[in-house]
Amino acid sequence: MSLADIGAKYKANKPSGVFRWYEGLFAAYHGADRNLLEIGVKEGNSIRTWYDYGPRLHIHGLDLDITQIEGTLPEDRVEIGKVDQGSRESLESATKGRSYDIIIDDGSHWCSHQQLTLGYLFPKLKPGGVYIIEDLHTSQWDRPSAKEFHEDCLGPSDMTTYFLQGMGRRDYVSRFILDSEMGYLQQNILDLALHSCCFHKSGYRHNWGMSQQACIWKR
Ligand SMILES: C[S@@+](CC[C@H](N)C(=O)[O-])C[C@H]1O[C@@H](n2cnc3c(N)ncnc32)[C@H](O)[C@@H]1O
Repeated sequence: MSLADIGAKYKANKPSGVFRWYEGLFAAYHGADRNLLEIGVKEGNSIRTWYDYGPRLHIHGLDLDITQIEGTLPEDRVEIGKVDQGSRESLESATKGRSYDIIIDDGSHWCSHQQLTLGYLFPKLKPGGVYIIEDLHTSQWDRPSAKEFHEDCLGPSDMTTYFLQGMGRRDYVSRFILDSEMGYLQQNILDLALHSCCFHKSGYRHNWGMSQQACIWKR
């Protein structure tokens, strides 16, 4: 079964075009035991998807609220914990002593949290690993439905996509990333790709949605 088919089976909260893209990305990580962290677990549907897809994936799922999933997931390769990704202290205690091959940020989608989490967790990615930020369309400053995700942003230049595009020009700044973290990113990012996916949303009047992801590879 393809990753998109498994995601559909579990009703994971990601469009099939995103799973199709991930299938190509994740091919590089088959054939050995790998550690995957996903921030944003919700009902556990994406965690079930990774579990079925990769028999050698060891999955760490973190969320602000884990009450609805406690005890509902397979325990042999899945660990679930609590985190507030807007806090470096909380990220540190949730990930202490760990490192990962794949990190996926599908949590709060606040632009400030996406950047703080990238700055904090990138050192915990193993060499050759991949860091994904989902739902970058929350960076669309003018989109009314995206407003809740950037209340602590002062303007479009605080948006995560603007920050990531700036990285390509090497003139990037972020109010949410410490200077030491920025130095680490500068030294250790190998490559960065942005992916857009237009998907069909049943039940919506204007029934096409747009989703954007960033994929950042480590040296
Ligand atoms: C989009 S859902 C995750 C969906 C899941 N990854 C899937 O594909 O099925 C986002 C999750 O982020 C969690 N969240 C919201 N704010 C957060 C924060 N500050 N830190 C960590 N998780 C947060 C929410 O509780 C929610 O479960």
